[in-house]
Amino acid sequence: MISGATRGIGRAIAAELHQAGWALSLGVRDPSALPSELVADERVLVSDYDAGDQDAPARWHAATRAWAGRVDAVVHCAGVNSPQPLTTVTAEEMERVWRINTLAPTLLAQEVLPSLRRSGSGRLMLLASMSGKRIRNDKVAYGTSKFAVVGLAHTVREQAWADGVRVCAVCPSFVRTDMTAQATKVTADEMTQPATLAHLMRTVIELPNTASVAELLVNCRLEDML
Ligand SMILES: NC(=O)c1ccc[n+]([C@@H]2O[C@H](COP(=O)([O-])OP(=O)(O)OC[C@H]3O[C@@H](n4cnc5c(N)ncnc54)[C@H](OP(=O)(O)O)[C@@H]3O)[C@@H](O)[C@H]2O)c1
Repeated sequence: MISGATRGIGRAIAAELHQAGWALSLGVRDPSALPSELVADERVLVSDYDAGDQDAPARWHAATRAWAGRVDAVVHCAGVNSPQPLTTVTAEEMERVWRINTLAPTLLAQEVLPSLRRSGSGRLMLLASMSGKRIRNDKVAYGTSKFAVVGLAHTVREQAWADGVRVCAVCPSFVRTDMTAQATKVTADEMTQPATLAHLMRTVIELPNTASVAELLVNCRLEDML
């Protein structure tokens, strides 16, 4: 199950896993935004998933189970940015970003966990960010929502480890997608390519239960990690 597959990182990990032979259940708001070769493939199911709809995880999960009979990996990429700084951020903006970036993956993880436990080697990949590991700007809604995603990943990891579920908080810095198209301090060519990140993510997904990567930190520029 992959959310956010219409664009950016989600689209890249969908292509990477499809190429590797996985059957994909793509949860999207607009199926027409998906690549036609994916939509036409019998190894791909397209389901309605709006991260702002609290009933969406149950519908998407049920549709996936009815189609595939099982769920082995869930990759949550749907997310939004927020430009508002600490000094002027509104309560509405804090709630909007929290609902999509933090509440949505929490409800999705809760919904799919029984299937991941049943798999025996379930994988949950949550797109957090380097902005969920350290603070380098004043975009408070985004940063706090991503710190919470890292916390969510560790919570599920602790709770489901015994059943073979391995959880990874994916924490890139700048990746060349629509979300970073307006970034000025890093040029597009300096950013990590979505396909490169997708390759790393597939490697983590396909590792055995005895090699768990709890956090995947990926930098495109040097920064102090100590
Ligand atoms: N790009 C970076 O540098 C970077 C760095 C660190 C972390 N991340 C995180 O990685 C994830 C993917 O980012 P990206 O750069 O690939 O972003 P993107 O290119 O802007 O794509 C965002 C994706 O999320 C989907 N989405 C947004 N709101 C949604 C909703 N309410 N319901 C369902 N889907 C929704 C979008 O679907 P639509 O096409 O329907 O809008 C799109 O597929 C995000 O969580 C982001 O915070 C990105």
